[in-house]
Amino acid sequence: MIHDPTEGEGPGITVRVAAKINLHLGVGAARPDGFHPLDTVYMAVSLYDDISAFGKRYFRIDTTSSGHIDIDDVPEGEDNIVAHAARALARLHGRRRTGRIVVDKSIPVAGGMAGGSADAAGALVALDRLWGLHTSDEDLVRLAGELGSDVPFALFGGTAHGTGRGELVRPIAHEATYWWVIVPSRAGLSTPEVFRCFDRLHPHAPAEPTSGGALLEWLEGQPGSPEELGALLHNDLQAPALELRPELADLLVEGTSAGAIRGLVSGSGPTCLFLCGSGEEAQRVAGELGAFGRRTVLVATGPVAGAHLVKYD
Ligand code: C5P
Repeated sequence: MIHDPTEGEGPGITVRVAAKINLHLGVGAARPDGFHPLDTVYMAVSLYDDISAFGKRYFRIDTTSSGHIDIDDVPEGEDNIVAHAARALARLHGRRRTGRIVVDKSIPVAGGMAGGSADAAGALVALDRLWGLHTSDEDLVRLAGELGSDVPFALFGGTAHGTGRGELVRPIAHEATYWWVIVPSRAGLSTPEVFRCFDRLHPHAPAEPTSGGALLEWLEGQPGSPEELGALLHNDLQAPALELRPELADLLVEGTSAGAIRGLVSGSGPTCLFLCGSGEEAQRVAGELGAFGRRTVLVATGPVAGAHLVKYD
């Protein structure tokens, strides 16, 4: 039986939002505001959170998971980024927050896949519809950028170049589809902690982040092979993530030994990604990595769409 956390709620809206991975994540020295300048290439992959919104007089957020995602670490009440998103949108239009929001998660929590950012983007789109606001795209993207560095990309999806602290997004047209094996960890990693570890490891980091220019040029050219993409993957937060979770280094070796083209840490980690040559290869690598039970192993494709409406009644 398919689990439906919104059963019996009555009419509502559901927006689906994808997880992101960073094909390139270049990080520069911390700016005066504490954020790090980024040069990143995002790709949306087929792991999704569903954000549903129902018209109510009260305002309330519930988080559920129909998959095997541990939601214990999702902040509650006003600490939840979905509450921030609702407040920002309500303030822009000078109205009260109302409605019941159900966030059904399949994106790992605190995993380096921007699950919280996806929920914020989904909430902006769902509440804009529920409240009949017709917010302009400019305002939505601006609010998204204020909510978090990865939130604007969650609106766009696809493949995109991110600069600033990640919030300045330029979509890239890239036709090919890639296969990924995704291995979340049981315990998440705090993004600020990983950035602090980056600062410790690179006390003299240049102000300019490592450029993703070669990858961008490749993506914008003729479609190439997954092997070529594998050679261009780069993550400046991998070393700090491995410093905080040394056991992930063994997992990365395990994935490439099982036949993946390349393994890397996803964003600030601890989720690990394995680029595979085809769907069959991905299933085979996933089977091998999951052979000893105890760990969750997922298969996803990318690029996929950003926040989009999947139900309206
Ligand atoms: O904006 P976001 O919610 O992604 O940021 C979470 C935290 O990660 C920030 O408070 C900051 O400590 C760190 N961060 C950073 N540089 C970035 C993005 C995030 O230092 N470009």
